[in-house]
Amino acid sequence: MAHPPAPLVTEEEIRHKVAELAATIDRDYADVDSLVLVGVLKGSFVFLSDLARRLTVPNRIEFIAVSSYGDRESEEHLGSVRLLMDVRHDIADEHVLVVEDIVDTGHTIAYLQRLLTARGPASLKLCTLLHKPDRTEAEVAIDYLGFTIPDVWVVGYGLDYAERYRTLPYIGELAAEDR
Ligand code: PRP
Repeated sequence: MAHPPAPLVTEEEIRHKVAELAATIDRDYADVDSLVLVGVLKGSFVFLSDLARRLTVPNRIEFIAVSSYGDRESEEHLGSVRLLMDVRHDIADEHVLVVEDIVDTGHTIAYLQRLLTARGPASLKLCTLLHKPDRTEAEVAIDYLGFTIPDVWVVGYGLDYAERYRTLPYIGELAAEDR
């Protein structure tokens, strides 16, 4: 029987942080007509949904899905990311904010920043709820950050372990014996 993951970031802490991030983003984009929020599937769907509903700047929601090669730890595939599903609309000349649940090694975001920059957005920024600096392999600039966390296995609020726990309302640490 798996134990409930130990809370690392509580529901209340998340709620406050999302409100704070939304206020900052609203202020920074006060002069733009429209902001394109690009959620990175699947993990970001809960954060994106809460963040977007807090924003007052007019926004459009897009999703993109990427996958790391199954065996990313191997030398050959280190850092390899591939596109599974693209955004639906052109982002040229648009203000784009990529919304992630977590920046871990940084490879996913490094890939997305290259991919989306090549399409000529008016601006491209990143908002991530979580960052694990101890795991950095590719340096990426984070414009809006929720929480810096240690190198532990986190689940909940969109994040999974083998597709479980995504709907847990808080960020929890999964014990080694439950993996
Ligand atoms: C997670 C997370 C990020 C990525 C970060 O996605 O949602 O997209 O990993 O890792 P990185 O910084 O090491 O590249 P995952 O591949 O687990 O897919 P999922 O969101 O569909 O669960």
